[in-house]
Amino acid sequence: MKTTIHTHATPTAISHAARAIREGHVAVIPTETVYGMAADATNPMAVASIFRAKGRPSDNPLIVHLADAEDTEKYAYTSPLFWRLAEAFMPGPLTIVLPKRDIIPDIVSGGLSTVAIRVPVHPVAREIIRVAGVPIAAPSANISGRPSSTRPQHIIDDCCGKVSVIVCDGASEIGLESTVVALDGDGIVILRPGEVTLEMLRTVSDDVRFAEHNPDVAPISPGTKYKHYAPRATLILVRGNSDKVATFLQEKSQLDRVGILDSCEADTLFAELRNFDEQSDIHTIYAPYPTEIALENRLLKAAQGNILEI
Ligand code: TXA
Ligand code: MG
Repeated sequence: MKTTIHTHATPTAISHAARAIREGHVAVIPTETVYGMAADATNPMAVASIFRAKGRPSDNPLIVHLADAEDTEKYAYTSPLFWRLAEAFMPGPLTIVLPKRDIIPDIVSGGLSTVAIRVPVHPVAREIIRVAGVPIAAPSANISGRPSSTRPQHIIDDCCGKVSVIVCDGASEIGLESTVVALDGDGIVILRPGEVTLEMLRTVSDDVRFAEHNPDVAPISPGTKYKHYAPRATLILVRGNSDKVATFLQEKSQLDRVGILDSCEADTLFAELRNFDEQSDIHTIYAPYPTEIALENRLLKAAQGNILEI
């Protein structure tokens, strides 16, 4: 497939991506969290193209992106708690799972009766959605099993030849995917931690908790059951007294074929993990155990549970 790459989010790029999406094609667009692989959420054929391009399992549902929270009622059944959350965090890096209306096809929801709604704050994303005039289904724009794409070069590496249009707009500001929550009465259940933290959600409801991962029951957020990205090298998270950890990492950094992920920051994490994959001679990567929950969530998956206590 011929892919048109716009290296900057010019008005031409924005209208090209919006038109492609409206016509049933797939476009990669920037958001404040990570880049998204976008198609018309009301067009099952267009959404099927996303699954093909990403190589994604078809029961893993997609987030529907809207230009304004006010549009949510067209696609889902809202509640007072939804509106309180929307008031506080939309637009922004929060995704809310709601009962879906029939206009959202089953391919978007992976056969679930719910739909995940997000209103990005990134001005280019919002403008593309607004001009396209349709709700946009968009997973992170990486090939399944690779780290989410947060840099134009990652998008080009992963998506060139697989999508119609790519709109680049520099590095993603946040660098981690949105917080995903489900609503349970007046309670908020965090399905995927992110930039909007538990403490922030507590400003809206007293009852905020993390989803329990019981492998015997179907996961409420299907994405959590898939094997996630792990680097080619063995990643080991090092936990303990911070001086000891620093000394340990310093010593290891002298060794050949060892990588150190020493500044675990959300905005550079996925980019650094991709860099290690490109330095194919590295066999072990050490990283300090992260203190922040969203980073811990992503790094524990990438490390496949490898923790070294010192
Ligand atoms: O920041 C983000 O959320 C990015 C940008 C592009 O917006 N998108 C993103 O999409 O990370 P994706 O497809 O990589 O992750 C969506 C997550 C998955 O874990 C999926 O299982 C969950 O949201 N999800 C989607 N619809 C759901 C639903 N109806 N119920 C429960 N979980 C859902
Ligand atoms: Mg993803």
